[in-house]
Amino acid sequence: MKFLNAGESHGKCLTAIIEGFPSNVEIDVQKINKELSRRQVGYGRGKRMEIEKDKIEVTSGIRFGKTLGSPIAFTIKNKDWENWKIPMSSENIYHDESINITQPRPGHADLSGIIKYRQNDIRNILERASARETASRTAVGAFCKQFLGNFKIEIHSRVVNIGGIKDVDIAEKGTNFWDKIEESDLRVYDKDKEEEIKKIIDEAKKDGDTLGGVVEISISNLPVGLGSHTFYDRKLDGLLAQQFMAMQAVKGVEIGDGFKSADTKGSKVHDEIYYDNKYYRRTNHAGGIEGGMTNGEEIIIKAAIKPIPTLMKPLNTVDIETKEKKEASKERSDVCAVPAAGVVLENIAAWVVADEFIRKFSGDSIEEINENFSNYLSYVEKL
Ligand SMILES: Cc1cc2nc3c(=O)[nH]c(=O)nc-3n(C[C@H](O)[C@H](O)[C@H](O)COP(=O)(O)O)c2cc1C
Repeated sequence: MKFLNAGESHGKCLTAIIEGFPSNVEIDVQKINKELSRRQVGYGRGKRMEIEKDKIEVTSGIRFGKTLGSPIAFTIKNKDWENWKIPMSSENIYHDESINITQPRPGHADLSGIIKYRQNDIRNILERASARETASRTAVGAFCKQFLGNFKIEIHSRVVNIGGIKDVDIAEKGTNFWDKIEESDLRVYDKDKEEEIKKIIDEAKKDGDTLGGVVEISISNLPVGLGSHTFYDRKLDGLLAQQFMAMQAVKGVEIGDGFKSADTKGSKVHDEIYYDNKYYRRTNHAGGIEGGMTNGEEIIIKAAIKPIPTLMKPLNTVDIETKEKKEASKERSDVCAVPAAGVVLENIAAWVVADEFIRKFSGDSIEEINENFSNYLSYVEKL
């Protein structure tokens, strides 16, 4: 599969086209909208999230609730567009230099973007660099989540820490684990930790500062053998890491024990192999991927999210017109978007896994893919 997306943060809408999505997949648009609203909530989000209630409008590729195998196209309206029609107009008659933004924010795309694209208004960069774009990637992934649901593949996320305050360590995720995470507006398990984190978010807000953190994505019920050891661009860990790093604000990706495994002996890192009618492991330090392929265990990937670069107490910068020392510009902004980042990454993971799933069990329709999948499962079961 492939997809393209377009859209500026304060433009009329976000647009995406997915090509190669199989036919006859049941799609519930409400479930896609639910993913979009999960992306919008979370303690520490800015005022913008109160204006928008994102919804997709499907314009092609689906009829009577099922995919046709043709390109799927959809838009997500930017609800604030009415207020931005003039400053974001595509027509030159409205061009107004006096509204140029000229004070680049450290940590954002502003300075490198204006130099690279020869712009004198930072808005021409920030509009596309903004994480508003992740709404369309979330929706694309939400189609894939529904596809993967047919094969019982589940994808969840949780916040591991925010601003250095860690949620409790959970050795075994119980049956209601993910429900508890969904109930928390910080996507953490422990209520006391949630309160502690809310406090530091409030403090950061009061100080005009921002916070980052770590999220963990879990992908379960995967068959063994998605991805491949045979070539660099087919390794599933590489594909996931690339797509994760390509999300705004992600500065580190770790699969399984990741960085910790570098400090530990091999005997404590590698997951011993057992057999009882099927191969299994008692540990999952590898995070479900060995040699670029799923090994049948839960995939566990963490991503480090840096603090939001727009600070209400701005950092020092240089005005690009006058070259004078100035304070960085301020846009309406989140204080902490770590819980939302987890939701986006769930859907990004769904895209990567669905793409690999279709590559391995290829077919034009879900029925054909299902047949190939079932044949493969019977082969694996006989091993
Ligand atoms: C869900 C989400 C929401 C974000 N919200 C904001 C925001 O409100 N203000 C801001 O300056 N940056 C925000 N960011 C981060 C910037 O988009 C990002 O830091 C910037 O585009 C520079 O890219 P980089 O961090 O990948 O280098 C957000 C990121 C994510 C994932």
